Amino acid sequence: MKATARAHTNIALIKYWGKRDEKLFLPMNNSLSITLDAFYTTTSVEFCTCLKKDIFLLNGNIMGEAETNKMTRFLDLIRKMSGSTLYGVVDSINTVPTAAGFASSASGFAALAAASTKALKMEINDDILSQIARQGSGSACRSIHGGYVEWEKGEQLDGSDSFGKQILTENEWDLSILSVLVEPNEKKVLSREGMKRTVDTSPFYTGWLETVDDDLTVAKQAIYDRDFETLGNVLERNALKMHATTLGANPPFMYWTSATVAVMQKVQELRDNGISAYYTIDAGPNVKVLCQPEDENSVREKLMTLSVVQEIYHCHPGPGITYLPNTNRKT
Ligand code: ADP
Ligand code: DP6
Ligand code: CO
Repeated sequence: MKATARAHTNIALIKYWGKRDEKLFLPMNNSLSITLDAFYTTTSVEFCTCLKKDIFLLNGNIMGEAETNKMTRFLDLIRKMSGSTLYGVVDSINTVPTAAGFASSASGFAALAAASTKALKMEINDDILSQIARQGSGSACRSIHGGYVEWEKGEQLDGSDSFGKQILTENEWDLSILSVLVEPNEKKVLSREGMKRTVDTSPFYTGWLETVDDDLTVAKQAIYDRDFETLGNVLERNALKMHATTLGANPPFMYWTSATVAVMQKVQELRDNGISAYYTIDAGPNVKVLCQPEDENSVREKLMTLSVVQEIYHCHPGPGITYLPNTNRKT
């Protein structure tokens, strides 16, 4: 009744921003991401008749009521699907900063979905696994697969056609994604709350919906063509548009700090000097800079000259879900 799985985070090139169904985590638009090799979550789940409630350990710490309730809601879904009534111990390690815009919810819920369904010996394919992960955190449905992944929003009311599909494997096109850490602390407005407030109140959200499908078509074709310039231009535009919607919300909010803007301006300066690099930002102040592998070191060197930059992690396209042998925690 125990299983261990690892899932890698993903960075959205075309963002998921807004739900049409909050309960089932059905998105307003298709999105597109790259699964990253350097950031991941490893989660063990053990179900046992000896438990009277679920227990959630994150990075070795027992989580409080709010986090544990989120976990229980997710495990309730797995229990309903499998017919089990057992409670579980979830022991999860994030090799990624938690809730800082590095997509810990994506790797976190993808690893949890994989480990918990395997622990209960459920026989499901990747499409169903992605649908399950989606109901923990939308972006998690893309982390089931490696490489370049599109989350199709689907049309069905029950969400049965809303899941991640791989469009290129991690080995088919290498890109460098430099994750630039300017702020390691947890964000004030979680993605879930931020996108809801935007959908409910921002007049700019209509502009987002009117153009995101075209952005996705351009990005997808650029990936098939291995056309970095076209991809870079559209992913940067798409990220800026997503962040612009937050400024129109009521109350308004922004994920950027002055350090975020300094990194964005540095990337623009690099391009002005002939180095091809583009940025994207998820729901948090940290910036991901995309470039071609041959430019990775020079881009890194230039970004490191900024005093606001605390760390730069080098990422490349990474794998989908993997299952690991169970280990016993020593602490
Ligand atoms: P991020 O940018 O890190 O994805 P979000 O606001 O989307 O930030 O999500 C953060 C939330 O994801 C956390 O508050 C927690 O509920 C959940 N989360 C993070 N890591 C894990 C994990 N390993 N297992 C389960 N849930 C996790
Ligand atoms: C800006 O998947 O974290 O990173 O579904 O409510 O858990 P919930 O939100 P989450 O949102 C991610 C938003 C984003 C864009 C993206 O990853 O596509
Ligand atoms: Co998230």
